[in-house]
Amino acid sequence: MSITVNYNNMMQNALGDRGIGDKELKAHLPLAKSAYEKVEEGRGKGMQGWMDSPYDQAEVVKAIKASARRIRKNFENFVVLGIGGSALGPIAVFTALKHYYYNELPKKQRKGPRFYVVDNVDPERMNALFDIINVEKTCFNVITKSGATSETMSQYLVIFDMLKQKLGDKAKDHIIATTSSNKGNLIKLAQKEGFETFFIPGRVGGRFSELSPVGLLPAAVVGIDISQMLKGAKDMDRRCRSHSIAKNPALALAVLQYISMKQGKNISVMMPYADSLKYIADWYAQLWAESLGKETDKQGNVVNVGQTPVKALGVTDQHSQVQLYNEGPYDKVITFLEVGTFRSETVIPQGCEEFPDVNFLCGHTLNELITNELYATRYNLTRRGRANYTIHIDQIDEYHIGALLYLLQLQTAYAGAMLNIDAYDQPGVEGGKDATYALFGRKGYEDKAEEMRSAKPDEEKYIV
Ligand code: PA5
Repeated sequence: MSITVNYNNMMQNALGDRGIGDKELKAHLPLAKSAYEKVEEGRGKGMQGWMDSPYDQAEVVKAIKASARRIRKNFENFVVLGIGGSALGPIAVFTALKHYYYNELPKKQRKGPRFYVVDNVDPERMNALFDIINVEKTCFNVITKSGATSETMSQYLVIFDMLKQKLGDKAKDHIIATTSSNKGNLIKLAQKEGFETFFIPGRVGGRFSELSPVGLLPAAVVGIDISQMLKGAKDMDRRCRSHSIAKNPALALAVLQYISMKQGKNISVMMPYADSLKYIADWYAQLWAESLGKETDKQGNVVNVGQTPVKALGVTDQHSQVQLYNEGPYDKVITFLEVGTFRSETVIPQGCEEFPDVNFLCGHTLNELITNELYATRYNLTRRGRANYTIHIDQIDEYHIGALLYLLQLQTAYAGAMLNIDAYDQPGVEGGKDATYALFGRKGYEDKAEEMRSAKPDEEKYIV
């Protein structure tokens, strides 16, 4: 396993008074130990079924691989319809592990169907998709655990209607449903129409579901080795079986973030220095925000905790956000994702001898440039007392991506336990869903509709 966590730049040793002292860290070790024990006690129970994902899916993986082979043979396009935890993982893993311009590659090189994820209900985006795919040559994977999410179900209705018009009885062969086995409407529709189905275990929540059929089927369809992803997750899980922060990197990261939150660092920036990891930061933003952003603790006391996640990309955002990180408020922790060896190299050719200010780059590689820019940015931030740590990933492949996702899920679970909140619910999201149902006059939401009708109207004087 070559993922390491370097948190030197969180500590007083590097940051002076703005850092965390050894004494302070030591004082939090009992809390870290208790969080570790709580998470271990809950392993596989309640909503912690995701901790079983690396271990209990042999049969599912077999079925997924068989289905993926069939899809790769028969379809030109594979489209995921889903949102939140049912979309961000598939996007992150695809972007991390496939060619940057995968969809534009010639079929022979691509080897699998083109891949799209539609995670919004913007009508222009939906119609734009129809401009570039032939639905008759497309397989649609409808992913929704609840089987009730308005966005995903409306996409499904649009697509299935179109497929039926074009293909009649064969329409059903173009839909795969990934959903709960016993809850919601999608499973009922799947049974009625005869769709192939994969199940999201009840004990696995949306944002913790990438290593379930939610993420595994889309990944397998584009030729990603899902067994290696699960192996990486399993090895990370085993590595983290310790309450010592010297051994358990997820626990170390959780306690550092916990102390930082107490210091008022309410923003968590994730900044990968690799385009392929850009959407890992997107996936993590949901995981961290939706799991930890809570109004009440487990006893019902109002606590209003959480850290606002910010997604940044190295080096691109050095030329936009890094100014703020260096000189703005001391309210952030920056997580750098660093890649040891990139999958390809670009040499900057010789030339430009008469322009020394450009020539200094010649003969080097873009690999050296991106790596040195990370060192430079990190050095500068640290010198200014800005808290940051680095997750170093030796190389980007299935094994390391599986391990990284699992590490971050575990960090989130430990942080939730330290904050004494339920990291697996999302009442704030449900509130918005209910209000949408009410606006559409859905049965059972009459009171909500009434509440919304009697809400204070906007005042003209505040509209310019
Ligand atoms: O993490 C979660 O539970 C949510 O973000 C869900 O993934 C999201 O709301 C989509 O829900 P569903 O998969 O039920 O359509």
